[in-house]
Amino acid sequence: MKLTREEKKMLDGKCGAAVQKAMEILVALGECYDAKEMIPVGSAHLVPCNPSAAGKGGVLFYKDMAEKGAKFVIPVSTNPACLDSWAWREMGFPEEMYQGQVDLSGVIAKMGGFLCNTCTPYVIGHTPRTKEHVAWGESSAVVYINGVIGGRTNREGTPSALASGITGRTPAYGYHLDQNRYGKLKVRVTADLKGASDYATLGYYAGKIAQDRVPIFTGLPGFVSQQEMICLAAGLASSGSVSHFHAVGLTPEAPTEKAASGTKKIGPSDTFRFGPKEMKKTEESLSKVAPEEVNLVILGCPHLTIGEIRKYAEMLAGRTVKDHVEMWILTQHTIKKYAEDMGIADVIESTGARLVSNTCPSAIPIDYYKQHGLKAFATDSPKMAYLLSGAKKLPCFYGSLDTFLDVVTSHRR
Ligand code: F3S
Repeated sequence: MKLTREEKKMLDGKCGAAVQKAMEILVALGECYDAKEMIPVGSAHLVPCNPSAAGKGGVLFYKDMAEKGAKFVIPVSTNPACLDSWAWREMGFPEEMYQGQVDLSGVIAKMGGFLCNTCTPYVIGHTPRTKEHVAWGESSAVVYINGVIGGRTNREGTPSALASGITGRTPAYGYHLDQNRYGKLKVRVTADLKGASDYATLGYYAGKIAQDRVPIFTGLPGFVSQQEMICLAAGLASSGSVSHFHAVGLTPEAPTEKAASGTKKIGPSDTFRFGPKEMKKTEESLSKVAPEEVNLVILGCPHLTIGEIRKYAEMLAGRTVKDHVEMWILTQHTIKKYAEDMGIADVIESTGARLVSNTCPSAIPIDYYKQHGLKAFATDSPKMAYLLSGAKKLPCFYGSLDTFLDVVTSHRR
């Protein structure tokens, strides 16, 4: 791989041990994928950033790099924690777990990390620009950056995102190159999509078919909200390993179908339809229990925008979450602050639901759910349904909130 003089200095250890290790990681990665050179990146996003998901090995890696003197040379943000650092006591998390999170966050902060602990940092200002090369982990954010913003990133793991944060470089391969960004299959949307969870279902359906290919969507309405795009991206990222998509007329690289597919002609065998039947089948495939069986509700995967929190508040107003049910609405702490200032948080919390900051339930160890008697959950996120019912074996009901609202809440008198 061709390296600049500056990059050679990094690799030779002339910029310190941490930079040398980081450059070794990136060169090895680049060689694996036949990258010809390194390219500068504008930002990075680390994942995982909690001890439960990172495991002992991951935490040691972060610590080792910090001890070697690693410092980020570009803005680097962090994915969710495994608990709410403000409400961990009242939510019944053990002190040891809180301390583990504080320690790891401290290590990342020492390197210069931006401790936003969210999967949607682009909502709060850590936002790549169109055509900007970045090095991000977090599968839903990767799809959002490539597809919605038109930035350029591969799906990075901890070592490579950290190494990019330290060097400001990434190897030029995959979605950094024009030729790999064209669509390879087409999904014609004929279903009437009525909100973010329908977009999430569409994403889940298409991700399963596409696997690691780039899908092109046609037939979407002329305006799709930010939360709907976020959910479409997250759905795509959860059932396959999709990292990029085009929505004709909506996303930066797809003003037309031809622009999205390049010279490749997409034939009938690579053309799929998403109508009411496909939507229903996809929803049913994600549900393993009836809503009456759940005692936990998880909304806000990926973390919510303020607009979507307001929608939930409107749906919940005048209701009370039933005694046997916990309802978590996930967002980033800054957004929660906005919700508090706007009085929306009060509306939500007066129902018994909880606005949870900076946390990913899929990173919470299964023992927590068992100890708190949380036996089955309902969610409007296919990503959460897939992760929590798969890896953690917590049975799930999947659907938009209005499909189970009357089961988990009652009208206040
Ligand atoms: Fe975010 Fe966790 Fe969902 S990282 S996208 S809340 S699975």
